[in-house]
Amino acid sequence: VLSASDTAAVRALWKKLGNNVGVYTTEALERTFLAFPSTKTYFLHLDLSPGSTQVKAHGQKVADALTLAVDHLDDLPHVLSALSDLHSHKLQVDPVNFKVSMRAEAGPACQGWEEFSPGKGVEGQMDNSLSPQLLSHCLLVTLARHYPGDFSPALQASLDKFLRHVILALASGYP
Ligand code: HEM
Repeated sequence: VLSASDTAAVRALWKKLGNNVGVYTTEALERTFLAFPSTKTYFLHLDLSPGSTQVKAHGQKVADALTLAVDHLDDLPHVLSALSDLHSHKLQVDPVNFKVSMRAEAGPACQGWEEFSPGKGVEGQMDNSLSPQLLSHCLLVTLARHYPGDFSPALQASLDKFLRHVILALASGYP
């Protein structure tokens, strides 16, 4: 569970982002695809070139999900259950993409860094391409870039916790 100060910090930042959450989530996706090319595995049916309107549309969807999460921080598994179902059953995103985060939950944010280097897949499964840590990392970089004055170590830690809780909720659809 997020502490009261984590919750307050995340809510305050989101308020500041206003209508730009989609813009920053899109930048984070673009950064993820560029910095970790293997993340593109799941999105080959989309135009992934820089400035793509399809990536922008996807970024807005992910942003709306994150905003919904910010608005329901104490009820994440419930509000994200349909999305969890989508990723696990319909899209059949390999659970390896969500597992690292569950492990990281037990320790400091940096724990297990070597675990999610791209391409280090489990045999017979897709590699951990769009590892949510990679997307979370790129979202943190994006926000740090646009809000340097706000981005204290404490805010980074709170945001990181928030994103890990989102991933945990998304992973709840897996057996
Ligand atoms: C679609 C959110 C992580 C793969 C979506 C959608 C949302 C979303 C809101 C659109 C659902 C709809 O159209 O109704 C998130 C969030 C994530 C996350 C908040 C974590 C922070 C991942 C990961 C993967 C993934 C880790 C793959 C490794 C996909 C794919 C689609 C999708 C392939 C369908 C894209 C399309 O064809 O339009 N996601 N997702 N997502 N997600 Fe995720």
